[in-house]
Amino acid sequence: MKAVEIHHYGGPEELKYEEAPLPAISPDEVLVKIYASGVNPIDYKIRQGSRSKENGHFPRILGWDFSGVIEKVGDNVVGWKTGDEVYGRPDPSRDGTYAEYAAVKVGEFGRKPVSVDHKAASGIALAGLTALQGLFEHGRLQEGDRVLIHGAAGGVGTFAVQLAKWKGAYVLATSSARNALYLEELGVDEVIDYEKEDFSQRVTDIDVVLDTRGGKTQEDSIRVLKPGGRLVSTVGIKDAETIRSKGIVPVSFMAQSRTEDLRQLSNLIDSGQLIPVVSQILPLKDAAEAHRLLEQGHTRGKIILQVVEENNS
Ligand SMILES: NC(=O)c1ccc[n+]([C@@H]2O[C@H](COP(=O)([O-])OP(=O)(O)OC[C@H]3O[C@@H](n4cnc5c(N)ncnc54)[C@H](OP(=O)(O)O)[C@@H]3O)[C@@H](O)[C@H]2O)c1
Repeated sequence: MKAVEIHHYGGPEELKYEEAPLPAISPDEVLVKIYASGVNPIDYKIRQGSRSKENGHFPRILGWDFSGVIEKVGDNVVGWKTGDEVYGRPDPSRDGTYAEYAAVKVGEFGRKPVSVDHKAASGIALAGLTALQGLFEHGRLQEGDRVLIHGAAGGVGTFAVQLAKWKGAYVLATSSARNALYLEELGVDEVIDYEKEDFSQRVTDIDVVLDTRGGKTQEDSIRVLKPGGRLVSTVGIKDAETIRSKGIVPVSFMAQSRTEDLRQLSNLIDSGQLIPVVSQILPLKDAAEAHRLLEQGHTRGKIILQVVEENNS
């Protein structure tokens, strides 16, 4: 099959579009024909060699976000069959989805939303699960709460904004001026231009901060939270002790792939309450260009790699 692999850690030029063996499946896995693969920051972090937990073998197929069709089911798999349309986030310590086929474990995929095509569906799982679990499981966000979402225009942020509004929260968000109007249309109540304004001077009484940035953004977020408020980070917490000493609950988490959560995201999309935001679609062979774009740090929503032309599907 065709796949995009790395043979060394390094820059985007290490991504090679080449022939790779078809993955073998174990009894609790399915073989998925990949139609499209979402591109995420974890992809370039692993490519750079900066994520020790997931580093491993070479050659290595990157990409852990997909939409496609089940081609073959393992002997122990129940409830799924050849031809089912699925999407999901496979285990990042294994070969990924920048490929024509991938082996995916039961539990790491769910039914694809029927109202969007594979391109849009391929960018939902990783960022959508992160937003869903970050806000509701780790943030314990409730109706009427005030939530501050950093990086609101990005992959995780665009899902988080919509999910928080769906829950009935009051949503504040940081972005550049370029995305302000867009985020208001998506439902944000107050957009703060991080290039012109210090959010910690303006914002108070926050119940939950969703931090996708870290660094100074994380430090400054401590001051805007209510006593007992939750600082939930997708990029790690720097000084949990200090945060706790100020009466704030620090939470760092890694999103988990779960069929049940994927089902909830699918249902929200199919009922029109959640819209996947896609900014660019590139062919699989242009994965290096997709990484260059994403690494600039200003993508709106998702960048997608298309593997199969959908009018041929
Ligand atoms: N722990 C987990 O399970 C998990 C899961 C998913 C992602 N992550 C991590 O979470 C981070 C975000 O992921 P992502 O997919 O959302 O990234 P992304 O899509 O690349 O985020 C890009 C967005 O960040 C915004 N941004 C850039 N600088 C900003 C600033 N100083 N303040 C506020 N917004 C800013 C940009 O908006 P402007 O163009 O308006 O600047 C852009 O829309 C990454 O580090 C990723 O690795 C962790």
